[in-house]
Amino acid sequence: MKLFDVYPLHPITITKGSGSLVWDENGQEYLDLYGGHAVISIGHTHPHYVKRVTDQIHKIGFYSNSVPIPLQEQLAELLGKVSGKEDYQLFLCNSGAEANENALKLSSFYNERKKVIAFKGGFHGRTSLAVAVTDNPKIVAPVNQTDNVIFLPHNDESALENAFKESGNEISAVIIEGIQGVGGIKVASESFLKKIRSLCDQYNSVFIADSVQCGYGRSGKFYSHDYAAVNADIYTMAKGMGNGFPVAGISIASKFKPWHGMLGTTFGGNHLACAAALSVLEIIEEENLLQHAGEVGTYLIDELKQFSQIKEVRGRGLMIGIDLPQELSHIKKELLFSHHIFTGESKPNVIRLLPALNLSKAHADMFLEAFKKTITR
Ligand SMILES: Cc1ncc(COP(=O)(O)O)c(C=O)c1O
Repeated sequence: MKLFDVYPLHPITITKGSGSLVWDENGQEYLDLYGGHAVISIGHTHPHYVKRVTDQIHKIGFYSNSVPIPLQEQLAELLGKVSGKEDYQLFLCNSGAEANENALKLSSFYNERKKVIAFKGGFHGRTSLAVAVTDNPKIVAPVNQTDNVIFLPHNDESALENAFKESGNEISAVIIEGIQGVGGIKVASESFLKKIRSLCDQYNSVFIADSVQCGYGRSGKFYSHDYAAVNADIYTMAKGMGNGFPVAGISIASKFKPWHGMLGTTFGGNHLACAAALSVLEIIEEENLLQHAGEVGTYLIDELKQFSQIKEVRGRGLMIGIDLPQELSHIKKELLFSHHIFTGESKPNVIRLLPALNLSKAHADMFLEAFKKTITR
């Protein structure tokens, strides 16, 4: 059997990782500023993570949601504390798309409406409704197409007001990333997020904060939407939550009342997933990673802004976009193949930095040094 060939691949086989470093099969070391697409939050093979997951698999790896799983309650409690949303409720699932799917479904159950407002440049996943609210027609199959989604320009308050004026009583939810990731690291303005909050309050619509990529401390705050100092009704999360173990969740405001059978999943919240997720939060707390990500991120952003050749540097904390002019589009490849540094990208020419939250200043400097060489060459 062959693999179904849907991924363009870098010809590098990674066999080992530690912190912000990975090694290929030939022993070549790489600096990982991509984190396997914003997934590695506390660093590869963090000793606490390895121990907690190993200890758990020796006890029990999985049992279904037909029995109480105390690890889920521990996770909910710690997540509430670290995220500062202690009165929210946690539903656990397995991926970012599934988290958004459940958030949209829950919203529709809540206000019994069908329409969703999403934004141009947004990405919310590839399952049925998640892909329908994603602004990329290429990945929307005919079966996913629906008239229930209204796409509006990002950060455009008057377009949002007009949409609510026109059909506010039909709007079930507004879904927005605090910082668009796939869309090229575009920060939602604080006043835009505040406007979403007030319109959702006015029309009893649900504010869904997609924090799959920009959440879990990456921006320097637990949820990047927190910069606007308003609460969303539902936060969706995945990627950094398990440092590579597939685990996702939605944090749900107390006004939503559950009933048995309302949401569900076989694998969500299994013992091993909870152990992985707990170890991540424990390290985020112990190593003070929100503050660290904020500081190292600000340092990187300030240093990058010194390069006059860059069109724009965007982002917050360790979610950084370096928007390059076309003539410098070769830099990403050069960083990887000449300097052995992994970065992410957004079309057409944005380098995305999504490293582990405990990226050291020394590794940040290593990147800046290499970047300087490629850009002044
Ligand atoms: C903002 C955002 N939401 C949702 C998703 C989908 O997550 P997953 O690939 O885990 O389904 C992604 C993935 O890149 C994302 O960046």
